[in-house]
Amino acid sequence: MVEQRKVVAAVGRMVNRALRARNLELRRLPPAVAQALASEPALARPEEGEPESIATPERDPFSTSPLHPPDELRVAFADAAAPIIERHRQQSVESIEALKSRYAGPIFGRTRVWDLVERLGCCIDPSDQRLYGASQQMHVLQMISEMEADGTATPEMVLVALIHDLGKLLLLTAEDPANIVCMNSPVGHWDPGSGLDNCVLQWNHDEFAYQRFKDLVPEDLAWLIRYHSVEPPDVVPLMDDRDRERTERLLKPFAHYDHATKTPFRLPSVSLLSYRDIIEEAFPHPILF
Ligand SMILES: [Fe+2]
Ligand SMILES: [Fe+2]
Repeated sequence: MVEQRKVVAAVGRMVNRALRARNLELRRLPPAVAQALASEPALARPEEGEPESIATPERDPFSTSPLHPPDELRVAFADAAAPIIERHRQQSVESIEALKSRYAGPIFGRTRVWDLVERLGCCIDPSDQRLYGASQQMHVLQMISEMEADGTATPEMVLVALIHDLGKLLLLTAEDPANIVCMNSPVGHWDPGSGLDNCVLQWNHDEFAYQRFKDLVPEDLAWLIRYHSVEPPDVVPLMDDRDRERTERLLKPFAHYDHATKTPFRLPSVSLLSYRDIIEEAFPHPILF
């Protein structure tokens, strides 16, 4: 019996270690929650040899009872994201140069910015383990909902929230997601204080959107679009005075909403249409995107 308890404890430690490696943890549920879950219909296990399906949690095809996603699904999402993140990490000065020239000209043609904002509803970031399958439009609305609740929804902050991830529309093309999503770090060695504009950083949707909006929005907001995905520990030493001032004034407050509001489980409390005027005023004419 003592031996058996030791084996169970060892297995528990192994499971926790594996979960921690993926930023997951095992927690004991409060009795009331455990009881409520126990009364839910159990997830059907596939028969031996039968493929796993996430579309049919039960044998009853008409069931609409809430799905409690098992940890395996989150682990599977993380496993699918890992090679994307790795390919992004492997970008080189040469591949970044190639991306810069590939996207020097317009990809989507002349289009109204509002139409682009609406199309964020079609975009899902396959590497985002906070949003999972929620769309980029939901992400933007979650940011603005929280800004409204905090009283920080200034026209400038809302404008950047609406357009900062428009570069992710490349997810609707044949481009490798590794060149569109993920966070950015410097590539190569750069002297401390060089200034971010003078360094080579990994290439993603930030740079694509910056190139489209740099002549259409105030310079500091364009800077925010360009650097909203930087990894602070890697880039802070390279910042110059201008970068540091903008980081304190713009990037830190914006990054809070960009990262801390993401979840597939909370519906935004604002509607996209309420913010159309901000976009139409800033971009009264179609732009080359
Ligand atoms: Fe982004
Ligand atoms: Fe974002």
